[in-house]
Amino acid sequence: MSFDLSVFSNKNIILAVTGGIAAYKSAILVRRLKDYGFNVRVVMTKGAQAFITPLTFQALSGNSVHTELLDPEAEAGMGHIELARWADLILVAPASCDTIAKFAAGLADDLLSTLYLATKAPVWVAPAMNQQMWAAKATQRNLNTLVEDGVHVIMPEAGSQACGDVGLGRMPEPEDLADQVKNYFHQAQRAIAEKFGLLAGKRVVITAGPTREAIDPVRYISNHSTGKMGFAIAAACYSAGAKVTLLAGPVSLDTPNGVRRINVSSAIKMLDESMHQLEEGCDIFIATAAVADYRVAEVSEHKIKKAGDELNVSLVKNPDIVATIAQQEKRPFMVGFAAETRNVEEYAAGKLVAKKLDMIACNDVSRADIGFASDQNAMTVFFAEQYQMQKRDLEKASKQEIAQQLVEAIHDALHHEIETV
Ligand code: C5P
Repeated sequence: MSFDLSVFSNKNIILAVTGGIAAYKSAILVRRLKDYGFNVRVVMTKGAQAFITPLTFQALSGNSVHTELLDPEAEAGMGHIELARWADLILVAPASCDTIAKFAAGLADDLLSTLYLATKAPVWVAPAMNQQMWAAKATQRNLNTLVEDGVHVIMPEAGSQACGDVGLGRMPEPEDLADQVKNYFHQAQRAIAEKFGLLAGKRVVITAGPTREAIDPVRYISNHSTGKMGFAIAAACYSAGAKVTLLAGPVSLDTPNGVRRINVSSAIKMLDESMHQLEEGCDIFIATAAVADYRVAEVSEHKIKKAGDELNVSLVKNPDIVATIAQQEKRPFMVGFAAETRNVEEYAAGKLVAKKLDMIACNDVSRADIGFASDQNAMTVFFAEQYQMQKRDLEKASKQEIAQQLVEAIHDALHHEIETV
């Protein structure tokens, strides 16, 4: 099971537009919802069509607009019952007094009021009307009925109105409404991932990117690691329901949605933070960082001045972060990476044992088409002996897809251990 939290291409929104001047904002709303990847179908009441044409919404949504309850042509395609079932959310924006009254009374004399009764999907209404009509007792009574019936009412904003009045009744801006819809689905998907995801509730710590070892205040030793693989794994773990902390070396990547990021620079700092995370609680530790093997023995306090033809800098070995964590008494499930240029599988299998890992993913960085700065990767995963799973080949794919396959491999190994204990 995989969850993509950024795109909602599998979510269907019915945007119902009713009669009111705010209908012009609904055109932008369609654009924003489409930008987020939602499938949008527009339903218009007669009143709405007096303000804006169905053609506008057809062009913006990429779907024909639904206006009639019993139009033979529409019913032959997607009829009103199919439409009611198709929706994951019905958003009525703007919602007129008349529509709100119809919903409250349970009328079914046009397409929208019928949809309202026929759908199981959540219904949201964004009332927009003259401030006096908003304040009218009947309107407030009807809105209360809707709330009691489980409808989500998006409160109108105060301000100057098209009719010249000033007061409550303006529909929120389309960007705001689209964000509310996006956040609703984010939260819903997150709840599902936390309940059913492959790593539901697991606490995952991931090291990523290079480390930077200072020589003096302006110079350092580092490497070409971009951190892309570690960041992709962080996103995949989060999507699988895990709580993810990313210990990132200096990289220029955006933090994946939902992931807690802690920036570190040197190997020593990365180790310190890893130990700290272990104390806070960690079920799975994934070491993707390209940690510098050596650091400068004595970092110069001041900038080293240009002098003779040679400059000798003495280096000392850095601690092995993943091996150190693996030696702890309460150790998490340990995942390492190996980037090799030759004897790839042999070296990786050796590191699995030497570093006491549960799993190691290795790739051949001598191949120009994968690894380091590339967006593609191919890997072979080895498991420690007790898992009796030996190895698994991950075919060349995007780093996102490889990350997803790694999550599955971690899940399978954890699951296997449970089964065989
Ligand atoms: O020994 P080598 O650097 O090839 O091992 C790679 C694996 O060990 C990676 O998972 C890397 O993140 C981890 N590592 C580490 N600390 C080091 C060196 C490597 O955690 N000092």
